[in-house]
Amino acid sequence: MSKGKYYLTTPIYYVNAAPHIGTAYCTFSADLIKRHKKQQGYDPVVLTTGSDEHGQKVERAAKAIGKTPAEYATTIANEFVRQWQTLGISYDRFIRTSDPKHFAVVRDLFERCEKNGYIYTGSYTGQYCFFDELYVTDAKPGDPCPDCGRLTETVTEENYFFKLSAFQDKLLSLYEREPKFIQPDTRRNELIGFVKKGLKDISITRTTINWGIPAPVEGKHVFYVWFDALISYMSAVQGTNLWPADLHLIGKDILRFHAIYWPAFLIAGELPLPKRVFATGWILVQESKMSKSRGNVVRPGPIAQVMGAGDELAGSDALRYFLWREIPFGQDGNFSYDALIDRYNADLANGIGNLASRTLTMIHQYCDGKIPASAGDPDIAASAARTTDLVNGHFDEFDFTRGIEAVLAFISQIDKFIVEHAPWKLVKARAADPEAESKLSETLYTSAESLRLICGWLYPVMPTSMVKIWTQLGMDTPLDLVSADVLVWGKLTPGQAVGKVQAVFPRIDSKPAIQKMQELEIVEIDRQNALMGKKPEPPPGDKASEQSELISIDDFAKVDLRVGEVKSAEPVKGADKLLHLKVDIGEPEPRTIVAGIALAYKPEQLIGRKVVIVANLQPRKLRGLTSQGMIVAASIDGGLPVLAGFREDIPVGARLK
Ligand code: MSP
Repeated sequence: MSKGKYYLTTPIYYVNAAPHIGTAYCTFSADLIKRHKKQQGYDPVVLTTGSDEHGQKVERAAKAIGKTPAEYATTIANEFVRQWQTLGISYDRFIRTSDPKHFAVVRDLFERCEKNGYIYTGSYTGQYCFFDELYVTDAKPGDPCPDCGRLTETVTEENYFFKLSAFQDKLLSLYEREPKFIQPDTRRNELIGFVKKGLKDISITRTTINWGIPAPVEGKHVFYVWFDALISYMSAVQGTNLWPADLHLIGKDILRFHAIYWPAFLIAGELPLPKRVFATGWILVQESKMSKSRGNVVRPGPIAQVMGAGDELAGSDALRYFLWREIPFGQDGNFSYDALIDRYNADLANGIGNLASRTLTMIHQYCDGKIPASAGDPDIAASAARTTDLVNGHFDEFDFTRGIEAVLAFISQIDKFIVEHAPWKLVKARAADPEAESKLSETLYTSAESLRLICGWLYPVMPTSMVKIWTQLGMDTPLDLVSADVLVWGKLTPGQAVGKVQAVFPRIDSKPAIQKMQELEIVEIDRQNALMGKKPEPPPGDKASEQSELISIDDFAKVDLRVGEVKSAEPVKGADKLLHLKVDIGEPEPRTIVAGIALAYKPEQLIGRKVVIVANLQPRKLRGLTSQGMIVAASIDGGLPVLAGFREDIPVGARLK
């Protein structure tokens, strides 16, 4: 009998970056949970994923390559769909926030909140970057824009606000009433602490953005992306009775949106709340967060190709296995090619793969390729029952690492069992000894039955590879339809013919495999850049291309060069090359500039001199002073710097273009 429906979601991914192993991690994990829940008898089990497409960044990225935001978003959304398919993700629905069906659901929730008195108009003040046309969250007046480095400006606009402040007590009592609403517990505690400090109302519309869902109000308002994005979880299953979601699986960085905003919006709209939000940790590369500027982004495609020797679904299994085996679910953990291959060879090639091929080969050689008749070894049968409980218990709690460890412990036990019973000796003795014949049957039945259960336990972890072993065992029920009641000892039918033996996890030679993955990674980066309309990156160390690299006028326009007048100049203690200047560039306060020109200029020579300043460099600390810009000078190899200046008189603050 069905345990009822189970609806789970991945986050919907931003379309400003192609999939990488971090986004794949969350998606793989949702796929594992879906397969596990199905096996446990939930029906239907529905998994949705999708793309988060609105906002200024997408609008701007599209414009830069001469596409409309809709075209741009489609390109990247398709890339996610393609990637999830090649990695074997069994999602049921891919929701795009640009889908008009989603618009209707967003507007409906807004209207419900409004009807219940949780929406009001107010003015929103934030730090805005006019060049990038976006608000810089958390910036203070005077802070630069993290994207382009220009100073942000304080802007006030009339917006619609959501009364989040009215939800502090309601949310705290929700967390109390439903202790599993936020998982893992460490995150739950952090979040409760945060909510206890008090919640501020949030602005949920914008007038500074065009690429968004128009709000059903007067004027040019579109919804703030998070109001839009969270509701996609409902739009994805609109017209079904799947809502509320049983699980939102997310990364820890977006927990506040899911555990505070989302339930508050739903309570305000008098709609049912999701049952659980589970936040995963981060996949780190070289111990740090993946980022384009660090150049440590790792994509799943090349790994899947190499680890599966061309069979991407098999390679996807190797990556999945590694991530859950290596990193306790919910915590941060490191990815490395070396560790991936070590685990693969130790646990998969030598462990499960070896158990499968030796068991099946012996059945072919000693039993005419048919499962022998036996009830199996009672101790192993009891251990299998315990392992089933352990695996299910851990998977139910999303502790995939422990679940896998329980299977590995069982595999070691079987390996030992086979060695102890030595079927290769029993086969020689059987002609003269009927006892040896029945021992042989028992040993091989035990190994094959263990293998069948291992396929069932690990199917959610490595669906493609477990199906391969399952098929070699001669099973005919498709493994994805197998439920827990079949995964009990003794259901393997004697006499069943086993299939052809093929290595499921062939050993991988580390060095050439890593080299191949790195080569394919570059091919993948170029392909994705081409998709996003970017030029291929020159190979590192390519002098000719470095020298001839041209920048666009937009790149040049990013540098804010201004005319300044030196107001004061002093030596910097303990630094004979530095001068501490105060330079007026037409702002209310002169800038502090620390310049390495003390050997070329005396402080008094500089007072009143017009100079050129780079005004939007990130501030930098030098000898305890914060330099708020750079003075432009020609530097002649080995010689002293010569300051740039003008023959004509020129007003302070003028921009150089
Ligand atoms: N669009 C929002 C989510 C809206 S959901 C209503 C978003 N998108 S994202 O593409 O930036 O990130 C999506 C998910 O991927 C987040 O859960 C994030 O935590 C996860 N990850 C991105 N990089 C990651 C790692 N390196 N490691 C693990 N997960 C990471 O946020």
